[in-house]
Amino acid sequence: MGMGVERIKKIVVVGAGTMGHGIAQVCAMRGFDVVLIDIKDEILQKALEKIKWSLSKFVEKRRIREEDAEATLARITPTTKYEGYVDDADFAIEAVVENLDIKKKIFAKLDELMPEHAILTSNTSTLSITEMGRATKRPDKVAGMHWFNPPQLMQLIEVIRGEDTSDETLNTVVELAKKLGKTPVICKKDVRGFIVNRILGNVFNEAFWTYYRGEASKEGIDATVKYSGGFPMGWFELADYVGLDIAYEVGKIMYEAYGERFKPCPEVIEPLVKEGKLGQKTGQGFYDWTKGRPRIPFDKCDEYDVERSWAVAVNEAAWLVYEDVATPEDIDTAMKFGTGWPSGPCEYADRKGLDTILNKLKELYEKYKMEMYKPCPLLEEYVAKGWTGRKAGRGFYTYK
Ligand SMILES: NC(=O)c1ccc[n+]([C@@H]2O[C@H](COP(=O)([O-])OP(=O)(O)OC[C@H]3O[C@@H](n4cnc5c(N)ncnc54)[C@H](O)[C@@H]3O)[C@@H](O)[C@H]2O)c1
Repeated sequence: MGMGVERIKKIVVVGAGTMGHGIAQVCAMRGFDVVLIDIKDEILQKALEKIKWSLSKFVEKRRIREEDAEATLARITPTTKYEGYVDDADFAIEAVVENLDIKKKIFAKLDELMPEHAILTSNTSTLSITEMGRATKRPDKVAGMHWFNPPQLMQLIEVIRGEDTSDETLNTVVELAKKLGKTPVICKKDVRGFIVNRILGNVFNEAFWTYYRGEASKEGIDATVKYSGGFPMGWFELADYVGLDIAYEVGKIMYEAYGERFKPCPEVIEPLVKEGKLGQKTGQGFYDWTKGRPRIPFDKCDEYDVERSWAVAVNEAAWLVYEDVATPEDIDTAMKFGTGWPSGPCEYADRKGLDTILNKLKELYEKYKMEMYKPCPLLEEYVAKGWTGRKAGRGFYTYK
């Protein structure tokens, strides 16, 4: 029997950390029964405290009523056991530590205990959905469901198709994301970094290399990106916010997966990570966070050329389209909803002119001889065909 979204009543969330507690809260707020699993009772207690705090904020802001907060909490069952808790659940979201062996064991366990119709998903940022699926006897019912931090507030969910994921499963995950009040985008291939982290990774690298070469200060880059570019945070500020340990790990994984196009600039992040300066969570990173968000000076707005950030973002977006990983629409939605960008890279390129972006990349490639600036064949092809964007009626999008 098929597995439509209407059939989903009970959801299992494994891992009650930063992401898991928020995901559980969102599911419960939307009326689903939730089983929240972690390895220790103390962790579950802390997770429930965090959920209560977050719900109280929603009540304060009049987004929900007091009764809704209570009903939400009552729908969440915390437990350290699987047996007797997951056997009647319809859907699972795994959000434990980023470790493939641990995740595979959890998938095998869920597969063994959950009903045949149940769909199993992972919130992994970097690991292979396909491999997790193959740890089960239902690889067609396994997909990626990549949420953004904090899950209670961020709109975007990247839905990832593993090599064995069925259309029906993908569809149901998309429908569930919508039912949870989120905006799903589809990542059609199980590639490292999915959509958002691929584009962001390239933009970070461009900024780090520019800083490393001494062409601009980190404050200068961030001021330009924020005040001239209209991005919600500067790249160094955002890296601190995400956590430099995570940015560093993701950077390494991207380099392994894509090679020179993602050549990290180790001299920039690595020393900070080694000193334990991991950004906001430790109080120190590129900036001092002990007195709140760092103040990025206004007067350094002209130190950096924000078109360089756009150029590498558009280039990576072109690779995603070229490799049939995502559509321009989904790429743009992902960057706007996942990171608060003022514009998606594809629509930006169409407005600016693909020829202009291509020239910028060629100029940068000529100057630095780095792969991240080497234009994607898709851009060359579009410009050669005269598809230069809005003005030509065709670019990433078609205009009437
Ligand atoms: N933090 C983010 O911004 C973010 C964003 C998107 C995706 N992710 C992904 O979400 C996942 C979780 O990340 P996080 O930041 O919430 O991590 P976290 O360290 O805050 O939480 C992980 C939780 O998993 C629990 N856990 C570990 N082993 C377990 C097991 N065998 N069974 C049950 N629970 C177990 C831990 O006790 C911990 O509570 C990772 O795969 C990460 O890549 C994180």
